[in-house]
Amino acid sequence: MYSLREAIVAAEKGGFALGHFNISDSNQLNAVVAAAEKLGQPVIIGVSEGEREFVGVREVAALVQAKRSERQPVYLNADHTYSIEGVKAAIDAGFDAVIFDGSHLPLAENIEKTRECVAYARASGRDVLVEGEIGRIGTSSKLLDTVPDDFDAELTNPDEAAQFVRESGVDLLAPAVGTMHGRLKSGVEPKIDAARIAKIREAAGVPLVLHGGSGSSDDDFVAAIKAGIAVVHINTDIRVAYRKGLEHDLASDTEEIAPYRFLSEGVEGVEQLAEKYIKLFSSLQS
Ligand code: G3H
Ligand code: ZN
Repeated sequence: MYSLREAIVAAEKGGFALGHFNISDSNQLNAVVAAAEKLGQPVIIGVSEGEREFVGVREVAALVQAKRSERQPVYLNADHTYSIEGVKAAIDAGFDAVIFDGSHLPLAENIEKTRECVAYARASGRDVLVEGEIGRIGTSSKLLDTVPDDFDAELTNPDEAAQFVRESGVDLLAPAVGTMHGRLKSGVEPKIDAARIAKIREAAGVPLVLHGGSGSSDDDFVAAIKAGIAVVHINTDIRVAYRKGLEHDLASDTEEIAPYRFLSEGVEGVEQLAEKYIKLFSSLQS
């Protein structure tokens, strides 16, 4: 199986993006990978700190290891990690990539801590990608009544992005370009600044990752990928699809006690959603 670094380079060269989908259990993992297999596309599985705590760092690494093959590349990313210890634990467990999220810190501190994570990754003997984040786009993948307090409308400045990448040594950058973690119940869609993405990509010199994908329009995704996004993160929509399917299953047969039966609609909902997004993100493949 080719490395995540090679998969991202190929996506950028091919003008498309890889999908990154968060999971909390093996059912969601199976659903996302089934969608990727159906479309013949590589896929990135993400686990936040909360998801890692629920599944287990080593356990999720083992689950993903069991799902991947030469024919079906599946990569594992430690999503939004706020401690260096958490980054180290994910690298030690065999993750393919880690995000040190220092976006809430002063830039100099963010750079310093991210650089420490990069050094640890480089010393691991494996090609572990380190992603850094500047610009605060909120921290929770949930359904929102209003824009959260930890969302900063100020978008990432290309010069600051260049400085951050140069001084931290990251392999990937998660900039603030208009998206927000979570999805507004009102249905208001965040507007992605594609022109800014192109400027940041040019200045930063590393592949860019779009966070907070749920709630964005297909047109915005296409424009963002064309402008230079190489990976797109989706979590809230996955969670909604899973819960909706589960609710329907449980309501439609209140006597059913077999999990593999009353979980099936949720799994199906996640697979269909992942398929929709993977198809969209890879549709630009030249
Ligand atoms: O890190 C996770 C992603 O950025 C998910 O964002 O929940 O808005 O889709 P989302
Ligand atoms: Zn994110």
